[in-house]
Amino acid sequence: MHTQIKHPRTISQKVIGRDTQDGAGVQLKRVLPAPGLRLLDPFLLLDVFSSDNPNDYIAGFPPHPHRGFETVTYLLAGQMRHRDSAGHMGVIKAGGAQWITAASGIKHSEMPEQENGLLHGFQLWVNLPAAKKMGPPAYQEFNPEQIIEETRSNGVKLRVVSGTTLEGTTGPITTTSTDTIYLDISMPTGTDYSELIPQGHNAFIYLVDGSIQIGQETVVPGELAALNDGDGVVIYSSKKSHMLLIAGRPTGEPVARHGPFVMNTQEEIEQAYRDYESGLFGEVGNAHDEVA
Ligand code: CO
Repeated sequence: MHTQIKHPRTISQKVIGRDTQDGAGVQLKRVLPAPGLRLLDPFLLLDVFSSDNPNDYIAGFPPHPHRGFETVTYLLAGQMRHRDSAGHMGVIKAGGAQWITAASGIKHSEMPEQENGLLHGFQLWVNLPAAKKMGPPAYQEFNPEQIIEETRSNGVKLRVVSGTTLEGTTGPITTTSTDTIYLDISMPTGTDYSELIPQGHNAFIYLVDGSIQIGQETVVPGELAALNDGDGVVIYSSKKSHMLLIAGRPTGEPVARHGPFVMNTQEEIEQAYRDYESGLFGEVGNAHDEVA
């Protein structure tokens, strides 16, 4: 049945997100980085926000900079409005994704486009190799209907944000420097799902809901399961389950990070602060300008 996968990956470590807040006071679970977990190079950060209490999210993420990496926002419920110093503006909707290559620097705001109801989604930070850190910023945004779906014969459903699946479905985001695979997977009870993951990629599963087994180990909701190396993964759902599978090629380079900047050396971090303070990142446009 899983003839294409010769060396299925096993779980190396499981971690659970910690409650924290970021932006202007958004309550979230920080899943990566996690104390005691090795760096899953190129993945620097994974935040999960999920609340139907507006007090937990309404303050949003007012203007702030990024340099040296990419940010990926994927929503399951709710809407977020994005504006940046490069003139991009858009609303990410439930089931939609936004991929920002901050590279040499952007300043942006990420604000809830709702006053009540559930806001549920993820922000992932993906590192850029040194050669791309000071390149031009880029922006990709996809509406829910642009995220390619695949349904397996046993009813397993995939939403492919980036990468190519075992059955050949390719997601709309194809230009990542780390060949990142980003899949949203829904499994009916008692089904198997197998996926190819290039050997050498770091990979993890984040379980949103349900209960799954990988090898002999069970994963529960809210857990991130980091995977050992192998050429793929085989997952069994003991309940109806919903998860993300994320994998990417490590940069293998030293990481110097502080706040919104991720570079290779401390000197480059200090330069990022100097550049930001001298206004090199530009300013986020005013929402009223465009409406007028
Ligand atoms: Co940001």
